[in-house]
Amino acid sequence: MDKFVIEGGKPLQGEIKISGSKNAALPLMAAALLADGKTTLHNIPALHDILTFNNVMRVTGARVEFDPESETLSIDPDTIYYPESPYDLVRKMRASFYMLGALLGRSGFARVSLPGGCAWGPRPVDLHIEGMKAFGAHISLEEGYVVAKVPQGSGGLPGGSFKLSPSSVGATVNLLLATVKGRARAEIRNAAKEPDVVQLCSFLKQMGAQIEGIGTSTLHVQGVPHLKGITFHNAPDRIETGTFMILGAMHPESRLTLTNIAAGDLGMFPGWFQKTGAELQLSGNAMQIIAPEVIQPVSVITEIYPGFPTDLQAQWATLMTQAEGESQVTDTIYPDRFSYIPELVRLGAQVKVRNNSAIINGKTPLSGTSVMSTDLRASVSLVMAALCAKGRSEVLRVYHLDRGYAKLEEKLNKVGAGITRINAEDQLS
Ligand code: EPZ
Repeated sequence: MDKFVIEGGKPLQGEIKISGSKNAALPLMAAALLADGKTTLHNIPALHDILTFNNVMRVTGARVEFDPESETLSIDPDTIYYPESPYDLVRKMRASFYMLGALLGRSGFARVSLPGGCAWGPRPVDLHIEGMKAFGAHISLEEGYVVAKVPQGSGGLPGGSFKLSPSSVGATVNLLLATVKGRARAEIRNAAKEPDVVQLCSFLKQMGAQIEGIGTSTLHVQGVPHLKGITFHNAPDRIETGTFMILGAMHPESRLTLTNIAAGDLGMFPGWFQKTGAELQLSGNAMQIIAPEVIQPVSVITEIYPGFPTDLQAQWATLMTQAEGESQVTDTIYPDRFSYIPELVRLGAQVKVRNNSAIINGKTPLSGTSVMSTDLRASVSLVMAALCAKGRSEVLRVYHLDRGYAKLEEKLNKVGAGITRINAEDQLS
């Protein structure tokens, strides 16, 4: 397993180009399977999760070609003959569960493995399943697989109304995929409004779908008999943008400029960010971050979009270790998403976890040591802490990072970081 060796304590200055969004791309890829004909997607990041999903789609017989250089992905579903997704792939990436809605929507049958849990605990899919049942699907659980069928001779799911409780990005995606093709009249209440969902709805409408209420928490779908393959440009990654905004505030002399951003996708996050004393200068699709001399403590509570994103929770707590004073980070989406805290403490942070909150006492000087990544966003927060720490750190198991951050060490070394990737085999020698 690769690791990073990081020489910390240096300011970061220069430009970082934001890559295409992983969480926005995955639903588009699943939706492309509903089309009659090929779809071409641009600005698709060359991440492990994208490569995993490509293989999940190939298992069905779909033709999938990805060029990591041009970040272009083409998907031709006309050769699909096997509407199944196996455990050994689905367990690697939860979003593979989108195959349930895509295959059910395309051919009226799907057999998809239940996803595994995540490092921070089980992540249920009950809303996905209950929603499809509410729309008329016959669902059974067989040896760890979800088998979904459209009622015999019905010509597609009849539809109905279903309320998500709690609101769920993945369930909203899956229920859209299951109903846009066919004859369903479906209402999804308390639907997620994340930019990833809004982009999916725009993509589906371009394919010929009929969806009303886009961007609101009630979506109305009228199924249509056919959807066509299209060409589409994926959005920039709002979580990568937020991650590098936070990193750009951690050292008083840092001056980062982020290019190829979609500022409109950041929700209310810039508001919290500026409360720390950091300044933002926006021009077009570029944003310059001016780090504050003194970081103000700012407590946050994660919420569904446009509230504070849970995917920036670990990065924010890391910033708060450098704030002058006490702050609290509460996660209402994933109450136990704090596995990175003991590793921050090993770097010198003063943090206590109580229920679904981390109480952080800043400012604490961080000093380099070895730390262990446990999941995607936790691992990037450890890299950020190591970049801020004095001396040398090692961040182990960076494969978690490779799932969600494209060319991370390349992007950060270009602006003055000192990150060296040590490949697993080199460690043995
Ligand atoms: C998406 O996961 C993202 N993943 C996650 O990003 C993100 O943290 C999450 O949304 C919340 O914003 C992708 O987009 C691929 P949810 P998802 O269903 O769809 C509960 C990353 O780091 N729930 O919106 O799985 C669930 O337990 C990843 O890139 C049910 O109870 O999240 C959670 O408390 C991590 N039953 C809440 O809903 C269900 O059937 C929100 O989960 C589904 C979800």
